[in-house]
Amino acid sequence: MKFSATATPAKLRKTRALALFIAEGEAIDHSRVSGLNGRLAPLAKAAGFTGKKEQVAGFPAQLDGILVPVVLVGMGKKEEIKDETLRQGAARMVKQMEAMQMTAADLCLGNGADGAEDPGRAIAEGASLATYRFEPFKSEPDKDRKAIREIVLRVPDDYLDCAREGLKLGDMLARGVALARDLGNTPGNTCTPTYLASQARAIAKTPGIKVKILDEAQMAKLGMNALLGVARGSSQPAKLILLEWSPRGATETVAVVGKGLTFDSGGISLKPGKNMDEMKFDMCGGAAVLGLFSIIAELKPVQRVIGVVPSSENLPDAAAQKPGDVVTAYNGKTIEILNTDAEGRLILADALAYVCDQKPSAIVDLATLTGAIVTALGHIATGAMSNNDALRDQVVASGNLAGERCWPLPLWPDYHKAIEAQTADLQNIGDGTAGSISGAMFLKEFVGETPWVHLDIAGTAWGGPDVGYYGGKGAAGVGVRLLAQWLMDRAGA
Ligand code: BES
Ligand code: MN
Ligand code: ZN
Repeated sequence: MKFSATATPAKLRKTRALALFIAEGEAIDHSRVSGLNGRLAPLAKAAGFTGKKEQVAGFPAQLDGILVPVVLVGMGKKEEIKDETLRQGAARMVKQMEAMQMTAADLCLGNGADGAEDPGRAIAEGASLATYRFEPFKSEPDKDRKAIREIVLRVPDDYLDCAREGLKLGDMLARGVALARDLGNTPGNTCTPTYLASQARAIAKTPGIKVKILDEAQMAKLGMNALLGVARGSSQPAKLILLEWSPRGATETVAVVGKGLTFDSGGISLKPGKNMDEMKFDMCGGAAVLGLFSIIAELKPVQRVIGVVPSSENLPDAAAQKPGDVVTAYNGKTIEILNTDAEGRLILADALAYVCDQKPSAIVDLATLTGAIVTALGHIATGAMSNNDALRDQVVASGNLAGERCWPLPLWPDYHKAIEAQTADLQNIGDGTAGSISGAMFLKEFVGETPWVHLDIAGTAWGGPDVGYYGGKGAAGVGVRLLAQWLMDRAGA
């Protein structure tokens, strides 16, 4: 989809949708359309359109002898309009265009964008993500659906530059999210650790991005037995994917680490069969890191960014790790495996400890780590846990700006007792209470003093509510927008 902005008012045409964002109870702003002269208001009224949030009206309007396809998008109360309102509004506009078989639109914001920080960005994100489909495994993809080619934003002259920049950023972010969604949605028999590694290699073809993939022999030499223990039950070899963006004159080094468990059966501590297919999504943290790196050369963060994706399957084959086994992680800590299904923290333990050798000034990890975070926050927010309150607040704030909400949970020392073990330094399941915090307390043992934030995305990586630009099914591509925003925000901090 192509996005552009112009200060030239739209002309009445029959081949392009004329879309307007309208706040509830507000007069329709006709100024961005030449020759309209207030003639839409009675038509909107006849269609029962009032501008209420979630309202959308699409109809052909007979104007100057031209049958103009009009799309009116309700934005709700003017004072309550935010970037998220625009993101969802753009998604509704796109769906209405699809229903009317329109492939291009002129979009006039009028007063329907008041209060938003970056309307262009929100609109590009919402419109682009709303058209996302995952069809590579359908023998007959939906041929009737016409792809939307073009959205032209009609804005006042003084807003033109901002609009253009916003559209460009939103479009770029949406492409990163789409890649993360694709990886998440790809079935486990295709999306293996080797597949993720090959995707990382493809991403690193872009100048400025470096890649290194550690295989099992290399990991064994380094002592990454926590990760390797998880991989023992699978015939798919584990990989440690390392990506790097290092701009000249980098201000600092930061690391982003994503859980890349390509299928989680639970291992010997086998999961129940119901919805087990969803455990192909257990690599969505890794997908967020790869999604970020797929656009990082366009985003051009000023920091050196290291991306790490520990990747494995968790299956119960003959060689599989067993409850009661003890493994020694990269940093020398010993772990008693009490449940092989608490495997995310094991593969992350080695990845986190390893990346700390690079002395990053901050680490953010994203992981579908615990079912307990779904109990705590549902599918609405990501859980944020950290050894550094200031960094956590920074990440939460970036998430809010990006439209990806996170909510903090504490990591007080009192929670440490739950992960102490009989036979080793640590055990991997906690005491059955505060499950998400136990998971994070475990990870904390592998970052030393490095400021670090753990984002538990088990609730937000898939299955969230239908918001138009995400339909509630399949991978959401969560984390890409947050990470990109965080890098931009840190540059300014
Ligand atoms: N990948 C799962 C977490 C998960 C569960 C994500 C459901 C999304 C939906 C993780 O590896 C896991 O199995 N965690 C266990 C930990 C427990 C054994 C301490 C869990 O949450 O039950
Ligand atoms: Mn598990
Ligand atoms: Zn898992």
